Amino acid sequence: MENTPWWKQRVIYQIYPMSFKDSNGDGVGDLRGIIEKLDYIRDLGAGAIWLSPVYDSPMEDNGYDISDYYSINPLFGTMRDMDELISEAHRRDLKIIMDLVLNHTSNQHEWFRKSVEDIEPYNDFYIWKPPINGKKPNNWNGFFGGDVWEYVPARGEYYLHLFGKGQPDLNYRNPLLLDEIKKMLKFWLDKGVDGFRCDVINILYKESFENGRFGLPRGLEHYRSTIGNHRILQYLQETVFRPYHAFTVGESVLVTPEEANNYVAGEERELDQIFYFDHLCSNQIVVKWFRKKFVPAVFQKQIVNWMNAVDWNANSLESHDQPRSVSCFGNDGRYLSSSAKMLGMLLLSLRGTPYLYQGEEIGMTNFPFRIPEDVRDLEALNALRIAKKIGIPAHVRQKMIWSVSRDNARTPVQWDSSHNAGFSQNAPWIPVNPNYDTVNINNQIKEEDSVLNFYKRMIALRNTDEVLRLGDFQLSSCGEIFDFRRSLSGSTYRILLNFTEKKQQKSNVEGIILISTLGDHKGPAGILSPYEGLIIKETVYHEKM
Ligand code: NOJ
Repeated sequence: MENTPWWKQRVIYQIYPMSFKDSNGDGVGDLRGIIEKLDYIRDLGAGAIWLSPVYDSPMEDNGYDISDYYSINPLFGTMRDMDELISEAHRRDLKIIMDLVLNHTSNQHEWFRKSVEDIEPYNDFYIWKPPINGKKPNNWNGFFGGDVWEYVPARGEYYLHLFGKGQPDLNYRNPLLLDEIKKMLKFWLDKGVDGFRCDVINILYKESFENGRFGLPRGLEHYRSTIGNHRILQYLQETVFRPYHAFTVGESVLVTPEEANNYVAGEERELDQIFYFDHLCSNQIVVKWFRKKFVPAVFQKQIVNWMNAVDWNANSLESHDQPRSVSCFGNDGRYLSSSAKMLGMLLLSLRGTPYLYQGEEIGMTNFPFRIPEDVRDLEALNALRIAKKIGIPAHVRQKMIWSVSRDNARTPVQWDSSHNAGFSQNAPWIPVNPNYDTVNINNQIKEEDSVLNFYKRMIALRNTDEVLRLGDFQLSSCGEIFDFRRSLSGSTYRILLNFTEKKQQKSNVEGIILISTLGDHKGPAGILSPYEGLIIKETVYHEKM
């Protein structure tokens, strides 16, 4: 299909630079480490890279607190390295998508420092409010738990930070700020980047600062997907993204399918795609730290809901913000390899763009935390502090937080079985998962039947097969077996995914097996081994006209 945009045709691979590959032995991944591994990403079959933030930053939130949009964090390298990464990626036909954090900057950003000093025009670049009767301006609370207002004696005012204290929210009522943002976007597009993954893009414009009703986080109704937010994105689309043919995928907070369509559908298209997370939260009780048992049907129904409501989704099972999928939705013990492959088949056979997170392609698992010192993430540290404050005993709060912490996905990529998993010559900034001696890329390249080689086969199939890439989605059933179809121009594929440790049987399964997670599927197509996934090309009889 000639006019199909590239982002509907390619698998996107997310790199979290701190943990991908360290080239200079300082224990932190870097741009030269990524350049070294571009062939690996191309050989996997991915067609684009989403790079988590590499801009200058004090790293309170690992780069999601930008102190200069125009320079590269020296931890990661230099602007020359970045230019080389862009051109080396393009030489291999890999697109580069930058992370774009527009809701807030770091409190170390020059704009913020000047804002604190009340210097024009920066005095109004952030959201400042005077105390009300000596107290905070309202009762909102933040995404990382706790306060959203920080008092600055020099100004006699509070600033708003919906995330960490070092991440002040920008003021999108100020047109001068928008001019700066436009300039910065053009700077990166002129460098040749192909698009942006837009961080928490549905909360830029705060409509009012009234107290919030009860809810988590409190105050959300005053800033989630406001009309002002849509106007800003329409404006950026018109003035920057569209003229540059830049791709945009939105990350958002608590988005519903209806809301997502307001961003991605229709004439006004403000974003090309939007991520959904309902399936990833399907075993959560109100907040992410409280979990119930994983029920495959509940998880699958959330996916189906998005497939049915939104024409083209950004599909993901992992990212730097989620624990490892095989530990949550598969079995990271006896069935590690089979369940990792089955989840891979799921990701790559849904309608929409698949986003694969570093290490997912070898079945990297959650980290077996043992001591509090292993925790690095700001969000988890805050949660531990709050849990302690409200009296949750140490062993209970640690168990709760360790299994869900974002650190689980941030341990170094396991390249081989050498010291530090081949990630770095020296001690990494975050501990390596001890299973690296068995779960690693080098081993899996050699093993014919590995998770990695399955991913390669599955991506190659998707890359060459229009039914898998562009076909419609139709649900057959959710449950122990997730059973759905993809169809295009008279061809139909049936996808059967066994979410259990049991052998399963399905009736009326007919056709040619295109791929099995087992490699070689023996016996009738309707019988699935534990955690097996199958794609079957159904035999369709066309009546003669
Ligand atoms: C979403 C990012 O993915 C996450 O890592 C970050 O902490 C928040 N947005 C705040 O920028």
